[in-house]
Amino acid sequence: MSDEVVVKAKNLTHVYSNGVVALKNVNLEIRKGEFIAIIGHNGSGKTTLAKHINGLLKPTAGEIFVHGMDTRKATVSEIARKVGYVFQNPDHQICMRTVWEELAFGPRNLGFSEEEVNKTVKETLALFNLEKYSDVHPFLLGKADRLRIALCSVLTMRPETLVVDEPTTGQDMRQSYEVMETLKKLNGEGKTIIFITHNMRLVAEYARRAVIMSDGGILLDGSVEEVFSNTEVIARAQLKPPQITLLASRFKQLFYDKTPLTVNDFCSKIEPLLGKPSQR
Ligand SMILES: Nc1ncnc2c1ncn2[C@@H]1O[C@H](COP(=O)(O)OP(=O)(O)O)[C@@H](O)[C@H]1O
Ligand SMILES: [Mg+2]
Repeated sequence: MSDEVVVKAKNLTHVYSNGVVALKNVNLEIRKGEFIAIIGHNGSGKTTLAKHINGLLKPTAGEIFVHGMDTRKATVSEIARKVGYVFQNPDHQICMRTVWEELAFGPRNLGFSEEEVNKTVKETLALFNLEKYSDVHPFLLGKADRLRIALCSVLTMRPETLVVDEPTTGQDMRQSYEVMETLKKLNGEGKTIIFITHNMRLVAEYARRAVIMSDGGILLDGSVEEVFSNTEVIARAQLKPPQITLLASRFKQLFYDKTPLTVNDFCSKIEPLLGKPSQR
């Protein structure tokens, strides 16, 4: 992680035209290279926040800077060069008649040359083994594949920061892990990943930082370990830490120094106590 701040929200507030206050004085700083999860119950403001990071929504009070751009002044396409956004429902995003065209749409819009478009589309399809669907209509594919197409159609624009809204909804566990592994790989290449999810296991296994939202505000912001060990706030946000973390919280005297987030974390503490060398 570098010192470069890619998202800076200052007292960010958004009131929809119907009067719903979806964000209230949100202060948030995200640095380049972070892998951050935004969690919170339905209606807590996660999608509204995400849409401020890509400039689709503008603050009604306060401000947000994205890659140094004040989103009230920058155009959506200026922001799209830096930030890729994968919608909560991929069908809200898919608009072309073949997978290839869908993936080429974004980079063409941003003015990539045809040569660059071909290169980025090819590479992105290969990343997900989706080459075979090149000429297929995206809507003929299953939900899991449509989500991958939506993700790919953002990646072809080569954004530095990716905002992915509920990337694993409607996917089975294997598919969810595949999406998360791809995000992890992209993060390893230096991209900042901001993902919204309900799946606490995925937060535990992949994110390094978690932000809990509730009623349009930030309830807690810290390392995933810090956040999951704060059982009181977690409960207030109507969330549940992973089962393994809950189990460990029953044995506080053993796990006083480090909250386990995964089965591996748990076992590496327990096995030596049982006289067994740790398996890992
Ligand atoms: N387009 C909209 N117009 C009016 N209210 C909205 C709109 N979109 C979301 N809301 C309301 O704003 C609040 C936050 O919604 P949202 O950001 O979608 O939350 P989340 O993604 O955490 O479920 C909710 O009360 C929701 O009903
Ligand atoms: Mg949402």
